[in-house]
Amino acid sequence: MFRLAVFVSGRGSNLKAILDAISIKYLNVEISTVFADKRECGAVDLAASHNIPVYFVSKFFKENYILLEQASDVLINLKIDLVVLAGFLKKIPDNLVDHFTNKIINIHPALLPSFGGEGMYGMNVHRSVFNASCKVSGASVHFVDKVYDNGKIIAQSCVDITDVQSPEEIAARVLEVEHKLLPFVIKKISENKITIVDNRVFILN
Ligand code: GRF
Repeated sequence: MFRLAVFVSGRGSNLKAILDAISIKYLNVEISTVFADKRECGAVDLAASHNIPVYFVSKFFKENYILLEQASDVLINLKIDLVVLAGFLKKIPDNLVDHFTNKIINIHPALLPSFGGEGMYGMNVHRSVFNASCKVSGASVHFVDKVYDNGKIIAQSCVDITDVQSPEEIAARVLEVEHKLLPFVIKKISENKITIVDNRVFILN
């Protein structure tokens, strides 16, 4: 079975979208572990309710606590095929990117390469999109490299925001497409249907 590690920091709606996709057998994968940088968050509760082992990213040395710089050993031991950043806010250390080149993906709630980079997360993104008076926004799933939100884009989904009155409305519309896009990309990767040719990512049918 294709094995995922899902990294989270927040409410966990994208983790739930993956779990739902597994339960309806859209995805033939298992979530072997969840890494979280907070003890108290919806995503951790969700993992616990599905009996998924959680590692806490922290400098403290307690049971199930781990330094992100040492995560690659754990992920290799667990035979993880793909690391999915689903709302994870910490930067992925270079050594992890080196061990898992093109095996770490991130979902970003805007159409990259716009509105990405350090500090561009959550409502910061949607506020910037709103203030720029954009007429479309969307979600991007990309490979993770050593620079925030910079890796090759795998797939994107657009939403019309011509008529929105607030950044919150943008967030709600984008989140809806995120929940379809992320399982879709995981499915394609797990089926080995993603190729990179001359730096461009292609999705096979
Ligand atoms: C999502 O909008 C995701 O794109 C971003 O952080 C948010 C996480 O939401 N990276 P959730 O925790 O999956 O509900």
